Amino acid sequence: MQEDKIRWNLRYQNDGMPTQTSDLLLRFKNILPKTGKALDIACGNGRNLNFLAKKGLQCEGVDISEVALSKVAKDENIKTFCLDLDTYKLKESYYDVILNFYYLNRDILKQTCMALKKGGILFLETFIEDEAYPTTIESKKILKKGELESFFRDFEILCHEFKIITRDKNFEEAKVVCFVAKKC
Ligand SMILES: C[S@@+](CC[C@H](N)C(=O)[O-])C[C@H]1O[C@@H](n2cnc3c(N)ncnc32)[C@H](O)[C@@H]1O
Repeated sequence: MQEDKIRWNLRYQNDGMPTQTSDLLLRFKNILPKTGKALDIACGNGRNLNFLAKKGLQCEGVDISEVALSKVAKDENIKTFCLDLDTYKLKESYYDVILNFYYLNRDILKQTCMALKKGGILFLETFIEDEAYPTTIESKKILKKGELESFFRDFEILCHEFKIITRDKNFEEAKVVCFVAKKC
């Protein structure tokens, strides 16, 4: 969506986004395959893509913001695509690893199940609803309780944890789910 593009380009121009590799990915680095294909959905500045590429995976990063993508490291193992995930179709049974960090699109989440090869691994981290932590995030961008389990019910769940983070916006606290699952 054009508004998303404008909004996110501004965010990345102002350098307001994290650049360090996700703790979840670092914690589970030992389960990453040594070779194969990886996709980072809404990869932003490539903070996680760069890590996977250095591990030897052939990486694709997709994002709507060309400003974000201009910050992705130049690496022969990384290809980036500037596109709108609202209308994108993922390749089927193609990826060994898929990352989905802080971008919730339920249609893409459904496609993720198909896009992974058997044995492929999903890493996901995003906001989840909890009455104890009301947030200003649009409700459609927050996972409902039990939603992930139903999307990935045929997967082996390797990690399903929660944490509370302080968002830079208004310093509000929000609940986040950290999820790692393997396609059976
Ligand atoms: C909160 S950032 C997360 C970026 C990255 N996954 C990370 O964890 O650093 C959300 C990302 O979603 C991208 N995005 C938002 N709407 C999009 C859309 N419709 N299609 C593709 N990317 C989109 C933004 O440009 C931004 O990079």
